[in-house]
Amino acid sequence: MTGLKWWQKAVFYQIYPRSFADGNGDGIGDFQGIISKLDYLQDLGIDAIWLSPHYPSPQFDCGYDIADYTAVNPEYGTLEEFKHFLNGAHQRGIRIILDLVLNHTSDQHPWFAESRSRRFNPKRNWYIWRDGRDSGPPNNWESGFGGPAWEFDSTTGQYYYHYFFKEQPDLNWRNPEVKQAMFDAARFWLELGVDGFRLDAIGTIFEDPTLPNHTVNLTQAELRGVLQTTSNADKRKHLREQRAAMFRYQLNQPGIHQLMQELRAVVDEYPDRVLVGETDDIAYYGDGDNELHLVFNFPLMLQTGRLTPAWVRANQQERLALLPVGAWPCNTLGNHDQPRMSTRFGDGRNDDALARISLVLMLTLWGTPFLYNGEEIGMTDIYLGETGQFRDMLGVWYYNTAIAQLGATLEEALAHANRIGRDKCRTPMQWTNAPNAGFCPPDVDPWLPVNPNYTHGINVTDRLKDPDSLLTFYQRILRLRRQTPALIAGEYTPLHQDSKDYLAFLRHSQVDDQICLVVLNMSEQTHRLSLDLPYSSAHVLFSSHNRDSDTDNVDMLSMAPFETYIAELR
Ligand code: GLC
Repeated sequence: MTGLKWWQKAVFYQIYPRSFADGNGDGIGDFQGIISKLDYLQDLGIDAIWLSPHYPSPQFDCGYDIADYTAVNPEYGTLEEFKHFLNGAHQRGIRIILDLVLNHTSDQHPWFAESRSRRFNPKRNWYIWRDGRDSGPPNNWESGFGGPAWEFDSTTGQYYYHYFFKEQPDLNWRNPEVKQAMFDAARFWLELGVDGFRLDAIGTIFEDPTLPNHTVNLTQAELRGVLQTTSNADKRKHLREQRAAMFRYQLNQPGIHQLMQELRAVVDEYPDRVLVGETDDIAYYGDGDNELHLVFNFPLMLQTGRLTPAWVRANQQERLALLPVGAWPCNTLGNHDQPRMSTRFGDGRNDDALARISLVLMLTLWGTPFLYNGEEIGMTDIYLGETGQFRDMLGVWYYNTAIAQLGATLEEALAHANRIGRDKCRTPMQWTNAPNAGFCPPDVDPWLPVNPNYTHGINVTDRLKDPDSLLTFYQRILRLRRQTPALIAGEYTPLHQDSKDYLAFLRHSQVDDQICLVVLNMSEQTHRLSLDLPYSSAHVLFSSHNRDSDTDNVDMLSMAPFETYIAELR
């Protein structure tokens, strides 16, 4: 693995700070809580943490609406506590990347307060202000969350633009002062020693300055409504195309790559830092060494309801062919915006086995894996029965819109809001089988309800006691990955490309002189594989099942239902 950077070898683990661990007993996660779990994370075997926003925020979008870029949300602690967290992680060999939200601030940010106060003020041009047209907004653009993208502000009689909620006004990145201020904010954290950034929603940073109307006849809410109810692949494809047409003037506009390259230069002022973009657009790799280090392979998780061998092979074939020379892939199956991996890819009968397969897939495909907190114990989505429990305003917005615009019944609207809203995957981490799952004191209301399934073994303490649990499985395979260079550095070669039931591939690292065979039996059937490879034997490095011997014959390899298998070929 010589020559690889730390972020190419690392397994990242996303912490959603509000829900990870509550150290001061107020029902909200915080730095004291995270610090108390650093040993847990070290034992788990992850190498780096992506921390979702920890900045002061009115929490309209759960922290993705930032009111101060160089401070810590007092609910989470102080800057001193942040430094303890950073140092504590570094002492354990764990790197930290922060979430950098560039596109917009909170409407409570002092910059916006100043900007909206008068038409002529030094911060006016830090946001995007326009006159209305024909007694309406400047054009027909919608917010990516739904509803109009323009908000009228009576103080100055103009509209401001917001790609997300109206509480998240877009910054004007064509103004060099904005760029300077945000680059300085990035430097503030880099100086403290953070190892890089996950860049939020970068595709939304610029919009077409001539503001052309889009020509789609449906609203966002209608599009989403139809998408929810149709499984017809052609129709879904058509709807996705309509959605792309709707946002063609608001996403991935000229100038963005130049800006990302400038940001890369800022980060390169510091040794060995990383930029990970919240995008799946390969163009953000630049020439492979001048823009972002990593962009996510989102299609793997987003464009399928089931992880099948055929799907994974097709995805890898397409993605890897697109990568520029020198670029490094990055895979994920879950985050704070998506259904929980176990819920999304479970079948209700074999969920534990399927969760193991998903994990082994993440850790054996070529690329840096990103895991999401709670996956390691098999946390699942929660269904919120009342809108009063919703904390994600996206869910609330869709509930109201489904009733007002789509003619949904209350029950349908609730189901719709649960599907679109993101609270379902953001519930508190389940640490023990005790009230509030040990996340916060028993007599305190956590900020979001705890999933009651912590009483059914889905909690860290119970999982750690069981040598066969999902959590101990995570520990085992994370350890193995670290010790197996081919799984990190090796070239990916698919085998048996017609197989419907199992995924088989090789990872071959010439430099390390190691070749690994990975087989994931994604079915309920036993399979006997004849691999016809120029190696005489397979030395088992890992299996989810008990195998009869440590060495196998690659001409006659038996795979139990849902078995995950890794062997070194000699
Ligand atoms: C990103 C975040 C999401 C947030 C949005 C607006 O997509 O992951 O949680 O709501 O950006 O900042």
